[in-house]
Amino acid sequence: MASTLILIIVFSHLVAKGIQNPILELKKAFKEFNGGKYDYIIKIKGHDEVSDLTQSFQTFQEYFITNNKIKDFYQKELELKLNELKKTDILKDEFSSMITHELKTPLTPIRGYCEMLKENSLGTLTSEQLECIETIDSNALHLEKLIGDILDAQKLDMGHIVFNKTEFHFDSFISELTKNIQPLVDGKNIQLIITSSSDRVIFSDEQRLRQIFYNLIRNAIDFVPEISGVVELGFKSSKDDHIFYVKDNGLGIPKDKQSNIFKKFYQVDTAQTRKHGGSGLGLVICKGMVEGLGGKIWFESGHEQGTIFYFSLPKILPVANEVK
Ligand SMILES: Nc1ncnc2c1ncn2[C@@H]1O[C@H](COP(=O)(O)OP(=O)(O)O)[C@@H](O)[C@H]1O
Ligand SMILES: [Mg+2]
Repeated sequence: MASTLILIIVFSHLVAKGIQNPILELKKAFKEFNGGKYDYIIKIKGHDEVSDLTQSFQTFQEYFITNNKIKDFYQKELELKLNELKKTDILKDEFSSMITHELKTPLTPIRGYCEMLKENSLGTLTSEQLECIETIDSNALHLEKLIGDILDAQKLDMGHIVFNKTEFHFDSFISELTKNIQPLVDGKNIQLIITSSSDRVIFSDEQRLRQIFYNLIRNAIDFVPEISGVVELGFKSSKDDHIFYVKDNGLGIPKDKQSNIFKKFYQVDTAQTRKHGGSGLGLVICKGMVEGLGGKIWFESGHEQGTIFYFSLPKILPVANEVK
């Protein structure tokens, strides 16, 4: 009787161990898997439910390892392609920058000689010859402006624009700007309104600020009605920023085209745009310059409701003057 009991105990102990060991092995394999060791191998013994489970786990392990290898392979391929693309992009930028510079170089002597001819420095010209020279010069000027815009857009893309900030008075800045833009409205039915109430001191890049204003004003002038155009420029006050604006009573920018307006080479396709010419780079440059100077640019416009472009520049002072 006692020996039978011992036999039963020994037998059930062996059976329990036979089940428990593969479970413990499986548990260890799960733990190793969790810890990142995906190829832990368990020896499968017998044909019971635990060994079936172990088999399924190993199939999953193999599947996982293969998938990981495929993923690693494609990841490496993608990184290689991305690096190649980056190199090609740099080469493309350098090439187009070089071409644009090469296009610009001959324009300097062309414009120089035009100037000399116009001033009769190389002998007196007939009115017909003078007219030809003026046509050559105005076309060269147009080309120069276009190339200048392409170069600026490239520099902004490559982060190569250097801003030269100084302190200057907004009032004198605006009166000089007005003198420069006056010829654009002369002989046209355009009223130019300048709002410059107080003499603010601005610390920014004066030349770039002039370029931003010029681009916005040029657009405003070209899009106002021929009979009674109104272009207004000035600033609004804000706590942290200087806010400048250029407003016109022109055709406006249709709502469905507004999201494209700051995209490179984009122009709203209208008869007025075709007459205005341009390259679709002006606003891209304005946005790049304003953001480079730490500000923002935005606009309000609607079909036949005119347009108002705003841009802000931070009210910062040169480091030495900054209030501690
Ligand atoms: N004040 C404005 N009124 C109406 N449309 C405008 C105005 N400013 C810009 N636009 C539209 O946005 C387009 C892009 O302007 P811009 O980037 O300056 O390029 P460009 O002047 O060379 O055409 C213009 O062609 C025009 O369609
Ligand atoms: Mg423009």
